[in-house]
Amino acid sequence: MEQPILQLYPQPYAECMLKGLYLAHDVRQFTNAASPYIYANFVSSLDGRIAIPRPDGSGLMVPKNVTNEHDWRLYQELAAQADLIISSGRYLREWAQGRAQEILQTDDPRFADLREWRMSRGLKPQPDIAIISGSLDFPIPDVLKHDGRKAVFFTTENPNPERVHEIEKREGKVVVAGKNRVEGKLFARHAYELGYRVIYSGAGPKILYLLLKERLLNRLYLTLAHRILSGNPFATIIEGPLLEPAMNFQMNTMYLDKTGLNGMEQLFVSYNRV
Ligand SMILES: NC(=O)c1ccc[n+]([C@@H]2O[C@H](COP(=O)([O-])OP(=O)(O)OC[C@H]3O[C@@H](n4cnc5c(N)ncnc54)[C@H](OP(=O)(O)O)[C@@H]3O)[C@@H](O)[C@H]2O)c1
Repeated sequence: MEQPILQLYPQPYAECMLKGLYLAHDVRQFTNAASPYIYANFVSSLDGRIAIPRPDGSGLMVPKNVTNEHDWRLYQELAAQADLIISSGRYLREWAQGRAQEILQTDDPRFADLREWRMSRGLKPQPDIAIISGSLDFPIPDVLKHDGRKAVFFTTENPNPERVHEIEKREGKVVVAGKNRVEGKLFARHAYELGYRVIYSGAGPKILYLLLKERLLNRLYLTLAHRILSGNPFATIIEGPLLEPAMNFQMNTMYLDKTGLNGMEQLFVSYNRV
């Protein structure tokens, strides 16, 4: 992480260090609004692939040849700034299969500074976690309680009462936030009422749709790995019906990392929704 990152936008060009790059964005400055500040992050190939099939054919995974330490550091810096991190039923199912990892890794010595960063601001070591799930069909891992974290499960109307009882007894609150699907506005309103002001989505394309359809997403962070993968099937950053009108974004920042992708280039770009 010694090689400087080149800031391309806003101008003038400047050399920056990777560590602290996204902490300096300070998304917690936006906590005074009447609704939560919501931001999401993806790492993608140039041809828009955020997930490709697992080698054994069982579902999708983030392509190994776009992930890298530099992107992961920035992902952690974004997660560290949140009150609440959005994840999904899929995450808990993968956790149960041993295929998922902790989202904000404050126990990792590489990210000890992020734990400090939170503590020095009076925040708990871990943000709380929102699990968005229509099915509520997942095993509940003990890790959800790690470091005093709370879990809130957002689901749809008439959830199975036994399942709700089981979840609330073991883990956290179940909130109904939609009829057939969890709806963005209801999710945001309940989250705000529960006291969450800064919300990070580390989830996938259906959740980005839920956040964008009702214009809840404030900022999109994208790492663009300078690689083309091709192949089918794949996931891209969003999945859902055509957005009409299309959602417009304005560039906030753009940085060139010349060697972060195993010696190759990648761009770190962030956009504000217009
Ligand atoms: N490259 C990257 O940066 C990146 C980032 C995120 C994810 N990914 C990858 O992308 C792939 C897809 O991710 P994902 O499955 O987490 O994404 P997702 O499509 O956003 O979420 C899927 C799960 O979330 C729940 N869900 C989503 N929208 C909902 C709604 N409106 N109402 C109720 N429940 C809803 C459902 O849970 P239930 O089935 O429990 O109802 C669904 O199975 C994965 O392979 C993941 O690793 C890549």
